[in-house]
Amino acid sequence: MKPSILVARAIFPETLARLSEHFEVESNQVDHIFTPQELAAKLQGKHGLLCTGSARVDATQLAQTPMLRAVANMAVGYDNLDLAACTAHQVMATNTPDVLNQTTADFAWALLMATARRVTEAEHWLRAGNWEKWSYDAFLGADIHGATLGILGMGRIGQAIARRSSGFDMQVLYHNRSRLSESQEAYANNARYVSKQELLATADHLVLILPYSAQTHHAIGAPELAMMKPSATLVNVARGGIVDDAALIAALRQKKIAAAGLDVFEGEPKFHPDFLTLENVVLTPHIASASESTRRAMAECAADNLIAALTHQKPPNLLNP
Ligand code: DGY
Repeated sequence: MKPSILVARAIFPETLARLSEHFEVESNQVDHIFTPQELAAKLQGKHGLLCTGSARVDATQLAQTPMLRAVANMAVGYDNLDLAACTAHQVMATNTPDVLNQTTADFAWALLMATARRVTEAEHWLRAGNWEKWSYDAFLGADIHGATLGILGMGRIGQAIARRSSGFDMQVLYHNRSRLSESQEAYANNARYVSKQELLATADHLVLILPYSAQTHHAIGAPELAMMKPSATLVNVARGGIVDDAALIAALRQKKIAAAGLDVFEGEPKFHPDFLTLENVVLTPHIASASESTRRAMAECAADNLIAALTHQKPPNLLNP
């Protein structure tokens, strides 16, 4: 008999078809977001789960799903999975690293450039019929070329973001849990390791791309924002909880920093309504990895992990040994 799995969110039909060759699949192509109770009910009798960040897999959930053997998260970030609880319940947990590095780095740049050069603000103004004449001081933004790029969280995506800066003649500073090797720093446009304080005080454009955890919760709050330059741009393509949104709104309103580009929000898809009252913020709905080919690669990677886990092989991206 084939193992049974739940695919908790809508997914590419081709990936679903491939999973059906290996498993009895219950899918959710209407893309209803399950409550924890609904998820527990759906997981009765299931051996595997393919999910995204919208599913929280913790000790409470796992205590109700004794048949579950594997969880494949279709994301590189896995702050929605309690790895210790997965291990305690002998559930293999996997993610989708690497396949999204370059696409996410591309998007970080799209957001940085749109934010620093006020692209969406200017477009809204134009669409509203306000454009009557060229003005020397309309929508003056910050230069990107020649500026100092700061990166907080220098994993594989951070390095890919840094690498792209060489075309803009930028100096790259970074802070990370640990310092990169010399060859990694060279790859990342000769990035220089600095303290978090120096990074905040020196960066003209600061990109956040670190994993979310209890340790990184509100890594950027009022004290950190106060250390930044009033002309600085902040970009978050990591996770919402890394930034204290209320503190950021206050800093943007008081022009303690110039602008922010945000792809992720605390409590998303809900977000602080005051962001909508600010002109100096660019807001996108968690789409940094959303290119056609990368989202397909993420789905296939999650499927590979689940197929391996439930056919007695080591999943390629096992998170808990
Ligand atoms: C990831 O892969 O972690 C992205 O944020 C998409 O969820």
